[in-house]
Amino acid sequence: MNFKEQESQLFFHTYKRLPLEVERGEGCYLFTTDGKRYLDMFSGLAVNALGYAHPAIIKAVDEQVRKYTHLSNFFIQQPQLQLAERLLRLSGFDKIFFSNSGTEAVEGSIKLIRKWGKPLGKSQIFGMSNGFSGRTMGALSLMDKEKYRAGYEPFLPNFGTIEFNDVNDLTSKVNEQTAAVFLECIQGEGGIVGVTKEFAAALNNLREKFGFLLVADEIQSGIGRTGTLFGFQHFGLTPDIITVAKPIGGGLPVGAIIGSKKVADVWTYGVHGTTFGGNPVACAAGVATLDTVMTEPFLSAVRSNAEYFSKKVTELKERYTFIKEVRSYGYMIGVDLTIDSAPIVEAILAKGVLVNATANTVIRILPPLIAGKEEFDVLLQAMEEVFATV
Ligand SMILES: Cc1ncc(COP(=O)(O)O)c(C=O)c1O
Repeated sequence: MNFKEQESQLFFHTYKRLPLEVERGEGCYLFTTDGKRYLDMFSGLAVNALGYAHPAIIKAVDEQVRKYTHLSNFFIQQPQLQLAERLLRLSGFDKIFFSNSGTEAVEGSIKLIRKWGKPLGKSQIFGMSNGFSGRTMGALSLMDKEKYRAGYEPFLPNFGTIEFNDVNDLTSKVNEQTAAVFLECIQGEGGIVGVTKEFAAALNNLREKFGFLLVADEIQSGIGRTGTLFGFQHFGLTPDIITVAKPIGGGLPVGAIIGSKKVADVWTYGVHGTTFGGNPVACAAGVATLDTVMTEPFLSAVRSNAEYFSKKVTELKERYTFIKEVRSYGYMIGVDLTIDSAPIVEAILAKGVLVNATANTVIRILPPLIAGKEEFDVLLQAMEEVFATV
């Protein structure tokens, strides 16, 4: 039985897996058991910021595993303290709670918001159309895509979605009863679409008027991916709560809820918790990731390489009319086509480069943050070769 047949027999069929059996990774490359090499410009769904087998991650994990791999949250743990200290210092926020994943950070934020809003008579929570918040019932309650929600009804009460970037819809929906609005400033799963200046400004005004909380979902866009610590920094927004996950564990599972002063005192002893959240090995890898990524030379390279790539792809637009738009926010890049992007992504994979298809027509590119011009050139060549055959 080959590995594809085995997977079909063993697992619930929730994933459409790639036809690759990976043996190991190194830098931006994956090596498969059949002796091939693939450039990974998708970095494990925006997780592997430092690529594969990065020496800083290996060192951090190795040192921590030898001390302890788990203690429970009855103990204060050095790696948690170090990661918390960095995230709060860099964000200027007040308090942090570690989870295991993005959806748990969203779920915890919903609980935090409900507790904050209770004495104020605010319970209504909104997400955005076309957004993605995760797979738990709370996260799904914030979303509108049937693809993810169908069959799971009923969802949580007093939840709804606002049309992304539609100021009228926003204005007609939020009011005194609104407790919070969740926003991906750059929708990832939704096809790399940024929030408009008008929408961000309206959100700021309405927040001031009604006093609701703004949650920035930085699970995909955070920790240097857009060339700044957080994606929202590009849009003149200052949230009250930030959710992070994906890269902050350096490839190991961690998520976090980061709260401003406004919500700092809402949670008290015993009101929320987790067994595994803030795992010390994952936090140690997270510290190594942050210490590597959060330097000005590193972030400035992300910005300039992204600009280089975006310019080159935009040039391709002149030759290939099926390229509708190139949307680029640092290393969060969407090439929107007038045709289905899935077969294009498949053909790019056959050329040895991994990217992703999302929102039907978008080629989503989420390279490891260590990728340089050289890797972008390899991707460009593969894209061009495939585009020429369309
Ligand atoms: C913006 C955003 N929010 C939340 C999530 C959910 O995170 P996780 O898959 O770690 O639960 C994701 C995952 O893709 C995401 O991109």
